[in-house]
Amino acid sequence: MYQTWEELERSIKNCQKCKLAQGRTNIVFADGNKQADIMLIGEGPGADEDRMGVPFVGKAGKLMNMAFQALEINREKLYIANIVKCRPPNNRNPEADEAMACMDYLRNQVLLVKPKIIVLLGSVALKNILGKEYGITSARGKWIEHKGILYLPTWHPAALLRDDTKKIDFWKDLKLVKEKAQEMGIW
Ligand code: URA
Repeated sequence: MYQTWEELERSIKNCQKCKLAQGRTNIVFADGNKQADIMLIGEGPGADEDRMGVPFVGKAGKLMNMAFQALEINREKLYIANIVKCRPPNNRNPEADEAMACMDYLRNQVLLVKPKIIVLLGSVALKNILGKEYGITSARGKWIEHKGILYLPTWHPAALLRDDTKKIDFWKDLKLVKEKAQEMGIW
């Protein structure tokens, strides 16, 4: 593990650890505040993110930003990253070997940010971080404490684009995050 952002960011440049390296335009490392108490973890970059090198700038990201605005959550207070840093072809789910190859980068990001709360966006984030035994439908909206960090799984914002009813859950879950952060005195 690297002790500084400079070392970590240098180590990921030109990463060739998995086959996603071949199709990428940009490595999508993260966005937001490196001192954040709240971190969000998504799945992997889509086409817009690959082009811009920033997570959640496409349709799903814009929808998530709307939820942040509605709940007066300042995106600049958050740190946002993904399970894989390079775009899977045709936006398919990252494969196990790709997620595994990328996991040390994410672990290192968590180690350096030291978040108190991690919001897991969707099934891929949930299963890769907390374990395959978890299912997003039953786990969402419930706090899970693991090694001193509070995790809240919720729907992936792209799922809200396909199913309007999930928006209500997503809003509720972000509200839970804000309330918990206020309770902990970190908001
Ligand atoms: N979906 C993700 O999981 N991450 C992004 O950065 C964008 C879309």
